[in-house]
Amino acid sequence: MNKTFWIMILGLFFAVQAGAKTSSAADEGVTVDMSGTNSVAPETTAQRDARMAWWREAKFGLFIHWGVYAVPAGKYGDQDNYGEWIMWNTKMSASEYQGYAKKFNPVKYNPEQWVKIAKDAGMRYMVITSKHHDGFALFPSKASKWNVVDASAYGKDLLGPLVKAAHDQDLKIGFYYSHAQDWNNRGGAIKAFKEGDGWDDSQKGSFDSYLEKTAIPQIKEILTNYPIDVIWWDTPIHMYQPRAEPIAKILKEIRPKLLTNLRLGGGYGDFATPEQFVPSTGLKGDWETCMTMNKHWGYNAVDQNWKSSSELIQKLITICAKGGNFLLNVGPTAEGEIPAESVKRLNDVGQWLKVNGESIYGTTAGPFPFLTWGAATRKNQVVYLHVFNWPANGELRLPLHSKIKSTQLLVEPSKELKMSQDAKGTIIYLPKQAPDSVASVIKLEVAEEPVVEPIASFNKKLTATSESPKNPVAAAQDGDAAQYWEAGAGDKNAYLEYDLGKPTLIHALAVDEPDRWPRYKQEIRVEIETDKGWTQLLATQTNGHGHQVKFPEIKVQKIRLYVKRELGPAGIAEWQIYSPE
Ligand code: GLC
Repeated sequence: MNKTFWIMILGLFFAVQAGAKTSSAADEGVTVDMSGTNSVAPETTAQRDARMAWWREAKFGLFIHWGVYAVPAGKYGDQDNYGEWIMWNTKMSASEYQGYAKKFNPVKYNPEQWVKIAKDAGMRYMVITSKHHDGFALFPSKASKWNVVDASAYGKDLLGPLVKAAHDQDLKIGFYYSHAQDWNNRGGAIKAFKEGDGWDDSQKGSFDSYLEKTAIPQIKEILTNYPIDVIWWDTPIHMYQPRAEPIAKILKEIRPKLLTNLRLGGGYGDFATPEQFVPSTGLKGDWETCMTMNKHWGYNAVDQNWKSSSELIQKLITICAKGGNFLLNVGPTAEGEIPAESVKRLNDVGQWLKVNGESIYGTTAGPFPFLTWGAATRKNQVVYLHVFNWPANGELRLPLHSKIKSTQLLVEPSKELKMSQDAKGTIIYLPKQAPDSVASVIKLEVAEEPVVEPIASFNKKLTATSESPKNPVAAAQDGDAAQYWEAGAGDKNAYLEYDLGKPTLIHALAVDEPDRWPRYKQEIRVEIETDKGWTQLLATQTNGHGHQVKFPEIKVQKIRLYVKRELGPAGIAEWQIYSPE
């Protein structure tokens, strides 16, 4: 067989994988550039690698959403209103909301214990809300009286002790800071309101003066008073490049080594932040999926929609297999306790990591775009196979053609597993019993760069009913989710069509959607060509995060992806089709 025909080098493939280019939270339909290309102090790749090193090694962190909103959570309105958006959701008056601060008295707060919970979970860093959109600073501030010392019953700094406890226990710590959106400091940005406007008179004022008098002084306070490792910006409403630049400059002046996410606005920052989803084809550059354990970030007494421990373990693995970090959230109560349901799940993840951590920390994306039975991470020449569904016949099929040096179960390093290779790839012969019911790890050392069987749609002919000049059809198969295909303006029945060249057995597909705001809501329908004409394979709704779907094995040559979007032309960032291993 002609090797160049089917050989796909891992490095090359992932070098063209996708990146979140634009995204924003400006609700007026303005898209803020968050591509991360702007820099106030250019650095070499080596300098950047050195700065990012601990974060890339860490892979797993704790997000903490905590503030005054934990007081009314569970005691006010209906359940969807609870959480850190409660004030905005109910359009509560500023004076009523500020009244809750007088009841915010977290006497059970134990920073050492919070750090221990994170450590026991196998986490290597944490990020806490120093100020959320409600504008309440959890640290003392000269820039605004609306802070924990001046406005709350507690009356003491909450963050200093946590920073100390984290560093004492060898954990990195970052502050989330809502730099643009602020509903209690005059002039702060407010989702769905014009610049300078708000629902409460106390909110109305100049956004620039808010930046100058509240946000920038507080950012300076944070940077000089706390030896933090990360700043995590959010919702860059009205944050055009000229407004973001002075903040980026301050950062470089005061703390040049600090890491930041890409939500400052103006294209500044180090890593992208897919929220509540895992990009199915991964992202180019550094990225971190942040996710809640139930449906809310802030504490919510009635939200019992908990993800299971096994789901969270498999999420962590899947994210690492695509090259990302995982920032998993807890919402402590107003008394200062992390909910028991969260602690239990964190502990379960920690137990798994204690045994299998080698396959997570310091890894990069695995070589396989898709694996039916699990996911894979990589550390140089070692590929870690995470098996979620242990094969009943004991044969694990791997679409890998390279020479292999050794293969063992991670928990049984002294015993070599038997293997064979054929035209489709590698078969590993496994023991009957899976060592772990959630994810068992196989450590495989390759003797050369991994050579992976290409996916079914790789380099296959892709056409569209129409395309917009800026967003051609080729963007949907270029392996870069930052670029996307968009249908022509009048195309009401838009679809993409793959011709796989010959009848091909397939059983899964993935679509990624443009990372744009507002999020795309699309109807997706997949049709295949059969003897009897075109028939529907599946149909689903999206929310801008794409989908990865498995279906019963079927032989097809031509396959169509119909996409319909209410608010404008349909768009797809990546469409991939997979064959069984
Ligand atoms: C969103 C929300 C916010 C949450 C954050 C986490 O932008 O506004 O409440 O803190 O995402 O990613």
